[in-house]
Amino acid sequence: MSKVTQIKHPLILHKLSLIRDKNTGSKDFRELVEEVAMLMAYEVTRDLETEEVEVETPICKTICQMLSGKKVAIVPILRAGLGMVGGMLKLIPAAKVGHIGLYRDEKTLKPVEYFCKLPQDIGEREVIVTDPMLATGGSAGDAIELLKKKGAKSIRLMCLIAAPEGIKKVTERHPDVDVYIGSLDEKLNENGYIVPGLGDAGDRLYGTK
Ligand code: PRP
Ligand code: URA
Repeated sequence: MSKVTQIKHPLILHKLSLIRDKNTGSKDFRELVEEVAMLMAYEVTRDLETEEVEVETPICKTICQMLSGKKVAIVPILRAGLGMVGGMLKLIPAAKVGHIGLYRDEKTLKPVEYFCKLPQDIGEREVIVTDPMLATGGSAGDAIELLKKKGAKSIRLMCLIAAPEGIKKVTERHPDVDVYIGSLDEKLNENGYIVPGLGDAGDRLYGTK
């Protein structure tokens, strides 16, 4: 069974409110998405393994902890997921970045794949899929399916805002994938947009509407 974690940190709540505001322009929107992604990355990576290492401080030798085990791959779903990558790389600079291009057909709301480039050793990495919006769950579900076909074995999904419909769909389709969200919103509207949501994440990030 998937574990669904809503990260309710005051800084995340505050920044999500600014992101939702329709008067927030692309520059601030981009910065805020990056900041929230960085804050969420702290929680999403909480269970990464560490090992003891010996470090010599200016005073003496001591035993400390450093990351061990699986390395991380961040895989944004293009376009909007890309806006979260910079913030995450600030915390996990050694992570490799894969890209999956999907867009949602406006009429059918079904995802259409147009790009996939992943690190060669994706099967040995802890994969974090990023996308600000989990709406019907079609895009995230297909991206995870594609990752599994390419050999990924350990995958988690990180979204800023999710609809109950998207959570249900992704967790039923991929019960092995844990999901981390900043907010669980009310529902989808008749156009498949999250209510209250933030509108179209890709367009707001890149000023395309
Ligand atoms: C948005 C969003 C997700 C998808 C969510 O992308 O970034 O990828 O919609 O919807 P779903 O859960 O119903 O699949 P969009 O298709 O608008 O592409 P874009 O990021 O290029 O704008
Ligand atoms: N994609 C978005 O960018 N926003 C939504 O509310 C739903 C899908």
